[in-house]
Amino acid sequence: MTRTSVSSASLLTLAALAAATGLTGCRGDRHDEPPRQFFQDMKDSPKWKSQAKTEFYSDSRTMRPSVKGTVAFGRTSFAPEQMAPSATTQPGVASDNWARKWEAKQADLLREDDRVYTGKGADGAYLTTIPVKVDADLLARGEKWYNITCATCHGYDGDGKGMVGKQWSAVLPNFHDAKYFDTKADQGKDGYLFHTALVGVWDTAGNQKMPGYAHALSPMDAWGVVAYIRVLQESRKGNINDVPAGQRDELMRVRPAPASAPAPAPASTPAPSTGGSK
Ligand code: HEC
Repeated sequence: MTRTSVSSASLLTLAALAAATGLTGCRGDRHDEPPRQFFQDMKDSPKWKSQAKTEFYSDSRTMRPSVKGTVAFGRTSFAPEQMAPSATTQPGVASDNWARKWEAKQADLLREDDRVYTGKGADGAYLTTIPVKVDADLLARGEKWYNITCATCHGYDGDGKGMVGKQWSAVLPNFHDAKYFDTKADQGKDGYLFHTALVGVWDTAGNQKMPGYAHALSPMDAWGVVAYIRVLQESRKGNINDVPAGQRDELMRVRPAPASAPAPAPASTPAPSTGGSK
């Protein structure tokens, strides 16, 4: 190798390096342009979007079905007592342990049995009562989820005249019909309403008549929806005198009585026209 050929080779190398440095800049510098990457490493790993198609799996689905034996959310106990001893013997772990907090949040479901998840008793019959504690929280939860998942079709007050329900090819059921609270037949049972909310309605030929909402509602949400449907039904059966005397004014204030409603009983505090201040 001659002297001249060596120096021109090193010059070329230098020029190439200079050009590369100019193109790539330094890591950490700010640029408006996206960076040019010569060695991609694992910066841009391939990803699939939900609902997209893939040739990788024979069923073409990028969203994979759960692996056989997957345990449904809400059924596994992560109780620290049942975790590896090392996790519980460390001082201070148990009280603010994530599992402990998670378990507290899920307590309503974890202590329940199969009826809570199926809406059916051991004999396979639909439950006639709601198997979880019905309180103001459950009703609020039910109101929220009814209005999100059911009202579009069944209407905010359950008469079947929701925005979508009105356009349906058939008339939608009215939850105020006696059959939806007469527990002698399935349709009036709490377990049936629960099951319908999650699974939908199918005819005997296997055609789906109503979509199920198990993807959107947890079992507890669905029981809330059932409780709320019961509230909607009750709301048409009762009158102002069913409301505790101290709360009638407030109710009349937010929703004035229709002309046909009975006048509040004398025990009531002043009517809205004379101004209830609370
Ligand atoms: C997309 C519209 C739609 C939504 C949303 C919807 N439903 Fe329905 N639902 C229907 C239709 C349509 C029927 C009537 C099906 C039939 O019997 O042909 C029905 C029927 C029912 C029935 C009566 C079933 C029977 O056997 O008589 C119940 C109960 C019910 N729905 C509950 C719910 C609950 C609870 C929700 C919310 C979690 C809900 N639906 C959301 C369309 C809907």
